[in-house]
Amino acid sequence: MKRIAVITSGGDAPGMNAAIRAVTLKALNAGCQVFGVKKGYQGLITGEIVELNSYAVSEILHRGGTILFSTRCPEFKEEQGMKKAKEQLEQLGVEGLVVIGGDGSFRGALDLSKMGFAVVGIPATIDNDIGGTELSLGFDTAVNTALDAINKIRDTAISHERVYVIEVMGRNAGFIALYAGLAGAAAAILIPEVETDLEEVVFRVKNATAKGRGHSIVVVAEGLFGNPMSGRTTAESSAFKVGNYVMKKTGKDTRITILGHLQRGGSPSATARILGTRFGAKAVEELLNGASEKMLGWNKNEITVTPLQEGIAKRNVLDLSLLSLADLLAVT
Ligand code: ADP
Ligand code: F6P
Repeated sequence: MKRIAVITSGGDAPGMNAAIRAVTLKALNAGCQVFGVKKGYQGLITGEIVELNSYAVSEILHRGGTILFSTRCPEFKEEQGMKKAKEQLEQLGVEGLVVIGGDGSFRGALDLSKMGFAVVGIPATIDNDIGGTELSLGFDTAVNTALDAINKIRDTAISHERVYVIEVMGRNAGFIALYAGLAGAAAAILIPEVETDLEEVVFRVKNATAKGRGHSIVVVAEGLFGNPMSGRTTAESSAFKVGNYVMKKTGKDTRITILGHLQRGGSPSATARILGTRFGAKAVEELLNGASEKMLGWNKNEITVTPLQEGIAKRNVLDLSLLSLADLLAVT
């Protein structure tokens, strides 16, 4: 294999740049020519593809976002879009692709592999919901960003003895809420994977007040009451619904904070940089060894290589014993 392309697609995630850098440097080191596809699958259709050298990927390891840009591109799902993408790749003589993204991006990658291109997927989404890997690129940084915000809100919550309902991202999954809530000693963590009991939240807030603690932090996953739409109003948010209910039932001064897209940005954590670097290098190694239709994962403390289908057909499963632990500590 002499020509490899790398692409970032779907929602961006901190650590994507680390993966782009490692793919590029590892492939150059092996004597390959490397191309970067801009703007996700859209760039594959329109031919916004640039050659990457070591200079192009210098000074990006510490940067959030993706230097290749990212989009959601509905046209790619159609036959016409696929055909254009195939022509672009054939024109450049690209034989192998590294696709960095979530399960939607993996579906696109699978279609590309059916057209004869070798494909390796790197799981990257702050939601951490992709099957076939315990950890997706971006999740660790997003949890730390959410935790930093929770810490800051806690300061003012304590001063004013208020209830704060903090909404975090995750689409339909509760990974960010559970991990940031556990690390941030939330009084309650509400996630889509578990039936919501607002009376229990009310009880915990009243219980805290009775014990002499004036403040409570409640962490809510954005997808608590169904699929979160991008661009929905505050009044439609999960945090608003929970906050309103708790305020009415407890009479406590309550505020809501929706952390939103700030969770997608920021300098990647050390874990993200190392994971992205290892994923990127391994993806190239796999392509050069003739692999295709594969995804990488991080399982039981090592990089794994499994069929791409794993990331599409399965979802990462939350360890609900962590929620039980958080609940136990919150009510004691
Ligand atoms: P993520 O990769 O983060 O899950 P999306 O679900 O938005 O993000 O998918 C990213 C892109 O992948 C889509 O905009 C589209 O171009 C492509 N894609 C998604 N689903 C499919 C599919 N079933 N077939 C082909 N391409 C797809
Ligand atoms: O999938 C990542 C994610 O940030 C989700 O947590 C969130 O629901 C969604 O993307 C937001 O999408 P957009 O950036 O299109 O508003």
